[in-house]
Amino acid sequence: MRKKIVAGNWKMNKNVIEAQQLMLQILHYRKENPGNCAVWIAPPAMYLLLAKDLYSTQQVGIFAQDMSAYKSGAYTGEISAEMLESIGADGAIIGHSERRQYHNETDAQCNIKVKLALDHNLTPIYCNGETLEQRKAGDHLNVVKKQTEEALFTLSDEEIRKVVIAYEPVWAIGTGETATPEQAQEIHAHIRSLIAKKYGQKTADEVSILYGGSVKADNAQEIFSQPDIDGGLIGGAALNITDFSKIIEALDA
Ligand code: PGA
Repeated sequence: MRKKIVAGNWKMNKNVIEAQQLMLQILHYRKENPGNCAVWIAPPAMYLLLAKDLYSTQQVGIFAQDMSAYKSGAYTGEISAEMLESIGADGAIIGHSERRQYHNETDAQCNIKVKLALDHNLTPIYCNGETLEQRKAGDHLNVVKKQTEEALFTLSDEEIRKVVIAYEPVWAIGTGETATPEQAQEIHAHIRSLIAKKYGQKTADEVSILYGGSVKADNAQEIFSQPDIDGGLIGGAALNITDFSKIIEALDA
Protein backbone atom coordinates (compact mmCIF):
# COMPACT_ATOMS: atom_id res chain seq x y z
CA MET A 1 0.00 0.00 0.00
CA ARG A 2 1.53 3.32 -1.01
CA LYS A 3 1.96 6.14 1.48
CA LYS A 4 -0.19 9.25 1.67
CA ILE A 5 2.06 12.27 2.20
CA VAL A 6 1.82 16.01 2.78
CA ALA A 7 5.25 17.59 2.35
CA GLY A 8 6.00 21.27 2.97
CA ASN A 9 8.71 22.88 0.86
CA TRP A 10 9.70 26.03 2.73
CA LYS A 11 12.06 27.21 -0.02
CA MET A 12 14.21 30.21 1.04
CA ASN A 13 11.90 31.50 3.76
CA LYS A 14 12.00 32.15 7.51
CA ASN A 15 14.68 33.17 9.98
CA VAL A 16 15.69 30.72 12.69
CA ILE A 17 13.13 31.93 15.25
CA GLU A 18 10.29 31.72 12.74
CA ALA A 19 11.48 28.31 11.55
CA GLN A 20 11.58 26.92 15.07
CA GLN A 21 8.15 28.34 15.82
CA LEU A 22 6.56 26.70 12.77
CA MET A 23 8.31 23.39 13.48
CA LEU A 24 6.86 23.42 17.00
CA GLN A 25 3.41 24.32 15.73
CA ILE A 26 3.48 21.40 13.29
CA LEU A 27 4.68 19.05 16.01
CA HIS A 28 1.96 20.22 18.37
CA TYR A 29 -0.70 19.89 15.66
CA ARG A 30 0.39 16.35 14.81
CA LYS A 31 0.41 15.30 18.47
CA GLU A 32 -3.12 16.61 18.91
CA ASN A 33 -4.26 15.21 15.54
CA PRO A 34 -2.40 12.01 14.79
CA GLY A 35 -3.87 11.20 11.39
CA ASN A 36 -2.87 8.56 8.94
CA CYS A 37 -0.91 10.52 6.35
CA ALA A 38 2.81 11.18 6.66
CA VAL A 39 3.82 14.80 7.30
CA TRP A 40 7.19 15.89 5.97
CA ILE A 41 8.93 19.26 5.92
CA ALA A 42 11.80 20.58 3.84
CA PRO A 43 13.16 23.65 5.63
CA PRO A 44 16.30 25.46 4.48
CA ALA A 45 19.34 23.21 4.99
CA MET A 46 20.74 25.22 7.88
CA TYR A 47 17.64 24.38 9.97
CA LEU A 48 17.68 20.63 9.36
CA LEU A 49 19.58 19.84 12.56
CA LEU A 50 17.20 22.01 14.53
CA ALA A 51 14.30 20.04 13.06
CA LYS A 52 16.08 16.82 13.86
CA ASP A 53 16.39 17.87 17.52
CA LEU A 54 12.71 18.80 17.76
CA TYR A 55 11.42 15.79 15.87
CA SER A 56 13.44 13.06 17.52
CA THR A 57 10.34 10.92 17.85
CA GLN A 58 9.64 10.69 14.13
CA GLN A 59 6.23 12.41 13.97
CA VAL A 60 7.46 14.59 11.15
CA GLY A 61 9.83 13.63 8.33
CA ILE A 62 12.78 15.93 7.64
CA PHE A 63 13.91 16.61 4.09
CA ALA A 64 16.54 18.74 2.39
CA GLN A 65 15.40 20.89 -0.53
CA ASP A 66 18.27 19.66 -2.67
CA MET A 67 21.52 17.71 -2.36
CA SER A 68 24.74 17.48 -4.30
CA ALA A 69 25.30 15.13 -7.23
CA TYR A 70 28.87 14.73 -5.93
CA LYS A 71 29.87 12.43 -3.11
CA SER A 72 32.30 14.73 -1.29
CA GLY A 73 35.22 17.06 -1.85
CA ALA A 74 35.88 20.54 -3.23
CA TYR A 75 32.33 21.60 -4.09
CA THR A 76 31.83 24.87 -2.25
CA GLY A 77 28.32 25.41 -0.98
CA GLU A 78 27.13 21.88 -1.59
CA ILE A 79 25.57 19.42 0.86
CA SER A 80 26.16 15.71 0.35
CA ALA A 81 23.87 12.73 0.70
CA GLU A 82 26.27 11.34 3.26
CA MET A 83 25.97 14.50 5.38
CA LEU A 84 22.17 14.28 5.25
CA GLU A 85 22.29 10.64 6.25
CA SER A 86 24.68 11.45 9.10
CA ILE A 87 22.25 13.91 10.71
CA GLY A 88 19.35 11.48 10.36
CA ALA A 89 17.48 13.34 7.62
CA ASP A 90 14.76 11.31 5.94
CA GLY A 91 15.38 12.42 2.38
CA ALA A 92 15.75 15.22 -0.13
CA ILE A 93 13.72 16.97 -2.79
CA ILE A 94 15.46 16.42 -6.13
CA GLY A 95 14.93 18.24 -9.42
CA HIS A 96 12.55 20.94 -8.20
CA SER A 97 11.66 23.21 -11.12
CA GLU A 98 13.35 26.16 -9.38
CA ARG A 99 16.60 24.16 -9.32
CA ARG A 100 16.12 23.34 -12.99
CA GLN A 101 15.27 26.94 -13.88
CA TYR A 102 17.84 28.88 -11.82
CA HIS A 103 20.62 26.29 -11.53
CA ASN A 104 20.26 24.50 -14.85
CA GLU A 105 19.68 21.10 -13.31
CA THR A 106 19.13 18.33 -15.79
CA ASP A 107 17.42 14.96 -15.65
CA ALA A 108 20.84 13.31 -15.96
CA GLN A 109 21.97 15.09 -12.78
CA CYS A 110 18.70 14.20 -11.08
CA ASN A 111 19.35 10.57 -11.95
CA ILE A 112 22.72 10.70 -10.20
CA LYS A 113 21.20 12.45 -7.18
CA VAL A 114 18.30 10.02 -6.86
CA LYS A 115 20.69 7.09 -6.94
CA LEU A 116 23.03 8.71 -4.41
CA ALA A 117 20.13 9.49 -2.09
CA LEU A 118 18.97 5.87 -2.16
CA ASP A 119 22.51 4.64 -1.55
CA HIS A 120 22.45 6.73 1.64
CA ASN A 121 19.06 5.57 2.87
CA LEU A 122 17.38 8.84 1.94
CA THR A 123 13.98 9.06 0.28
CA PRO A 124 14.17 11.14 -2.89
CA ILE A 125 11.17 13.31 -3.74
CA TYR A 126 11.75 13.55 -7.46
CA CYS A 127 9.98 16.53 -9.07
CA ASN A 128 8.90 16.79 -12.68
CA GLY A 129 6.40 18.84 -14.65
CA GLU A 130 5.95 20.79 -17.85
CA THR A 131 6.16 24.53 -18.52
CA LEU A 132 3.22 26.57 -19.79
CA GLU A 133 4.65 26.62 -23.34
CA GLN A 134 5.00 22.86 -23.31
CA ARG A 135 1.42 22.41 -22.13
CA LYS A 136 0.10 24.88 -24.71
CA ALA A 137 1.96 22.95 -27.39
CA GLY A 138 0.24 19.77 -26.19
CA ASP A 139 3.60 18.32 -25.20
CA HIS A 140 3.00 17.78 -21.48
CA LEU A 141 2.66 13.99 -21.56
CA ASN A 142 5.90 13.61 -23.53
CA VAL A 143 7.83 16.04 -21.34
CA VAL A 144 6.84 14.25 -18.16
CA LYS A 145 7.58 10.88 -19.77
CA LYS A 146 11.09 11.95 -20.71
CA GLN A 147 11.76 13.44 -17.27
CA THR A 148 10.50 10.32 -15.52
CA GLU A 149 12.42 7.89 -17.73
CA GLU A 150 15.71 9.78 -17.72
CA ALA A 151 15.83 10.42 -14.00
CA LEU A 152 14.37 7.19 -12.68
CA PHE A 153 14.39 4.29 -15.09
CA THR A 154 17.95 3.16 -14.38
CA LEU A 155 16.76 2.21 -10.88
CA SER A 156 16.07 -1.35 -9.84
CA ASP A 157 12.58 -2.48 -8.96
CA GLU A 158 13.46 -2.37 -5.29
CA GLU A 159 14.87 1.15 -5.62
CA ILE A 160 11.99 2.73 -7.51
CA ARG A 161 9.56 1.59 -4.84
CA LYS A 162 11.44 3.86 -2.41
CA VAL A 163 11.12 6.95 -4.61
CA VAL A 164 8.37 9.53 -4.16
CA ILE A 165 7.45 11.48 -7.29
CA ALA A 166 6.04 15.00 -7.22
CA TYR A 167 4.28 16.18 -10.36
CA GLU A 168 4.55 19.96 -10.33
CA PRO A 169 3.47 21.79 -13.48
CA VAL A 170 5.81 24.78 -13.62
CA TRP A 171 2.96 27.11 -14.58
CA ALA A 172 1.15 26.32 -11.33
CA ILE A 173 4.05 26.85 -8.91
CA GLY A 174 3.65 29.96 -6.79
CA THR A 175 1.28 31.46 -9.36
CA GLY A 176 -2.01 30.83 -7.61
CA GLU A 177 -2.99 28.86 -10.70
CA THR A 178 -3.65 25.19 -9.95
CA ALA A 179 -4.01 22.34 -12.36
CA THR A 180 -7.59 21.13 -12.27
CA PRO A 181 -7.99 17.83 -10.42
CA GLU A 182 -8.62 16.21 -13.82
CA GLN A 183 -5.47 17.69 -15.38
CA ALA A 184 -3.39 16.52 -12.43
CA GLN A 185 -5.01 13.08 -12.39
CA GLU A 186 -4.27 12.64 -16.10
CA ILE A 187 -0.54 13.14 -15.55
CA HIS A 188 -0.43 11.11 -12.34
CA ALA A 189 -2.09 8.18 -14.09
CA HIS A 190 0.33 8.66 -17.00
CA ILE A 191 3.36 8.51 -14.69
CA ARG A 192 2.00 5.43 -12.94
CA SER A 193 1.38 3.70 -16.25
CA LEU A 194 4.95 4.46 -17.37
CA ILE A 195 6.23 2.83 -14.18
CA ALA A 196 3.85 -0.10 -14.68
CA LYS A 197 5.11 -0.63 -18.23
CA LYS A 198 8.71 -0.70 -17.08
CA TYR A 199 8.44 -2.37 -13.65
CA GLY A 200 4.99 -3.98 -13.54
CA GLN A 201 1.69 -2.84 -12.05
CA LYS A 202 2.45 -4.10 -8.57
CA THR A 203 5.52 -1.89 -8.31
CA ALA A 204 3.71 1.08 -9.87
CA ASP A 205 0.99 0.76 -7.24
CA GLU A 206 3.61 1.13 -4.50
CA VAL A 207 4.98 4.49 -5.67
CA SER A 208 3.50 7.60 -4.08
CA ILE A 209 2.91 10.41 -6.56
CA LEU A 210 2.29 13.85 -5.05
CA TYR A 211 0.84 16.90 -6.74
CA GLY A 212 2.45 20.32 -6.26
CA GLY A 213 1.52 23.76 -7.57
CA SER A 214 -0.62 26.22 -5.62
CA VAL A 215 -2.24 23.62 -3.38
CA LYS A 216 -4.22 25.57 -0.78
CA ALA A 217 -6.50 24.79 2.13
CA ASP A 218 -9.56 25.27 -0.05
CA ASN A 219 -8.56 23.15 -3.06
CA ALA A 220 -6.59 20.36 -1.34
CA GLN A 221 -9.48 17.99 -0.74
CA GLU A 222 -10.63 18.01 -4.36
CA ILE A 223 -7.10 17.41 -5.65
CA PHE A 224 -6.39 14.66 -3.12
CA SER A 225 -9.63 12.86 -3.97
CA GLN A 226 -8.21 11.76 -7.35
CA PRO A 227 -7.28 8.08 -7.45
CA ASP A 228 -3.62 8.51 -8.50
CA ILE A 229 -2.85 11.53 -6.33
CA ASP A 230 -1.29 10.41 -3.07
CA GLY A 231 -0.79 13.78 -1.44
CA GLY A 232 0.91 17.09 -2.07
CA LEU A 233 4.17 18.98 -2.13
CA ILE A 234 3.17 22.34 -0.75
CA GLY A 235 5.07 25.63 -1.08
CA GLY A 236 3.42 28.89 -0.04
CA ALA A 237 0.66 27.28 2.01
CA ALA A 238 3.21 25.29 4.03
CA LEU A 239 4.59 28.47 5.58
CA ASN A 240 1.85 28.93 8.16
CA ILE A 241 0.24 26.40 10.47
CA THR A 242 -3.36 27.40 9.70
CA ASP A 243 -3.16 26.53 6.00
CA PHE A 244 -0.70 23.66 6.36
CA SER A 245 -2.78 21.90 9.01
CA LYS A 246 -5.94 22.25 6.88
CA ILE A 247 -4.13 20.62 3.97
CA ILE A 248 -2.97 17.76 6.23
CA GLU A 249 -6.53 17.42 7.46
CA ALA A 250 -7.77 17.17 3.86
CA LEU A 251 -5.49 14.17 3.25
CA ASP A 252 -6.14 12.55 6.63
CA ALA A 253 -9.88 12.63 5.95
P1 PGA B 1 3.47 26.44 -4.30
O1 PGA B 1 4.87 25.67 -4.48
O2 PGA B 1 2.59 25.56 -3.45
O3 PGA B 1 3.83 27.73 -3.62
O4 PGA B 1 2.91 26.64 -5.66
C1 PGA B 1 4.91 24.29 -4.67
C2 PGA B 1 6.34 23.83 -4.85
O5 PGA B 1 7.12 24.55 -5.48
O6 PGA B 1 6.73 22.76 -4.37
